Amino acid sequence: MASDKVQVGVVGVGIGRTHLNGYRKLGDRVEIFGICDINEARARATADEFGVKRVFTDYAAMFAEPDLDAVSVCTPNALHAEVALAAIEAGKHVLCEKPMADTLENAQKIVAASRRSDKVFMMGMNNRFRGDTQVLKSFINEGQLGDIYYAKCGWTRRNGIPGLGGWFTTRAMSGGGPLIDIGVHVLDLTTYLMGNPAPVSASGSTYAHFGPRGRGAGGYGYAPDPGTKIQYDVEDLATGLVKFDNGATLFLEASWASYIPHDQFYSTLLGTEGGADLEPLRVYKDMAGAPVDIAPQAPQIGGHEAEVRHFIECIEQNKTPLATAEQGLHILQILDAIYRSAETGREVVIAR
Ligand SMILES: NC(=O)c1ccc[n+]([C@@H]2O[C@H](COP(=O)([O-])OP(=O)(O)OC[C@H]3O[C@@H](n4cnc5c(N)ncnc54)[C@H](O)[C@@H]3O)[C@@H](O)[C@H]2O)c1
Repeated sequence: MASDKVQVGVVGVGIGRTHLNGYRKLGDRVEIFGICDINEARARATADEFGVKRVFTDYAAMFAEPDLDAVSVCTPNALHAEVALAAIEAGKHVLCEKPMADTLENAQKIVAASRRSDKVFMMGMNNRFRGDTQVLKSFINEGQLGDIYYAKCGWTRRNGIPGLGGWFTTRAMSGGGPLIDIGVHVLDLTTYLMGNPAPVSASGSTYAHFGPRGRGAGGYGYAPDPGTKIQYDVEDLATGLVKFDNGATLFLEASWASYIPHDQFYSTLLGTEGGADLEPLRVYKDMAGAPVDIAPQAPQIGGHEAEVRHFIECIEQNKTPLATAEQGLHILQILDAIYRSAETGREVVIAR
C-alpha cells in the first residue's frame, strides 16, 4: 500500500453507492481514491456527494493508477469478469458483487486469475454478514444442528422485476433472471450455513409468464427510458434441486414475479440434532425430552457494511475472506446446471 490507508476505487455506482457508504464508515482506514462509471454524470454526482476527487469513465485508466489498492466491482453481471480480471491483472484487491459472473466459463477465469494473484479476491455476499446469519452460524459451528442433510431456500417476489426491459432482463447483460439475481443470495447463504459442500448435480425448471407480458415490474434497479422497446429474454421464476458430495440436498426457488401473498426470503435447514429458519431466526431442537423452539437474539447488523469492513480487514491483515472465489464458482456451477437442466429437461451432473 502506498499509504497506511487502503485506497479504494468503485466501478459502477448503483449498488456501488452502498459500497461507498461502507468505505466511508471506516474513517481513517480507507480513502476513496476514485469512482468509475460509464455514465459520467452519475459518476460525478456520486463523487460530489461522497467528496471523492477522481472520476473515471474507463476502469482501465483507474486501474493503471499505482496508488489504487483495491476495487469494488459493481457493474452489470456480464461485466464482472472483464472488470474483475482487469483489476486482478493490475495487482488490485477485488471485492466483486454477486453473481461472480454471468457464465460458468467467466467464473472459472476469475478463479484461475485469483489463484495466480497474491491479492485478496472476495465475493460480495452481504447476507453472510448479517447479525442473524452469524448467530445461526455460531449455533451450527457449536454442533447444535448436528449434520445438516436437507435445506430449503428461496427469494420470491410478488411484483419485483428489476428495471423491466433494462439490463437485468437482458440475458446478454445479466446471464439470467431471478435465479442469478436473487436466487444466488439465498443459495450462497444456505450453502455457507451448510458448510460449503461441493455440488454434484442439479435439476431445475424456469418459467417466464410475467416479464414477456410486461407484468410484474418492481420499483428496484435501473429502468429504461419511457418508449424504449421492452427487452425480456430471461426467466421470472426458477426452481432447483441440488445434490452435494456429502449426501445433502437443497431445494431452491427464486422469482421476481408470481401470484403469492407477499415477498419471501427464507432459508430452512434440517440437521440430525436440530433445525433452523432464517427469517426470522429460529432454532428447533428437543430439550429435556420436549420439542423446543429457540428465538436467538441477534444483533441488528446489516450485511453490506460488515461485508465491506471484512474486505478491508482481509487486506490489512492478509486474511482469506469469508466468501472466496472457489465458493463463488460452486454457486455458478449450480446456477449453470439449473439453467441447463431447465433447457434439457434432465438432471445435470456437475464436473469436479
Ligand atoms: N448485493 C446486493 O444486495 C446487490 C444489490 C443490487 C445489485 N447488486 C449487483 O450489483 C451489480 C450492479 O447492479 P445495480 O443494481 O447497481 O445496477 P445499476 O444499473 O443500478 O448500476 C450499474 C452501474 O454500472 C455502470 N456501468 C455499466 N457498464 C460499466 C462499465 N463498463 N464501466 C463502469 N461502469 C459501468 C452503469 O452506468 C451503472 O451506473 C449487479 O451485478 C447486481 O447483481 C447487488
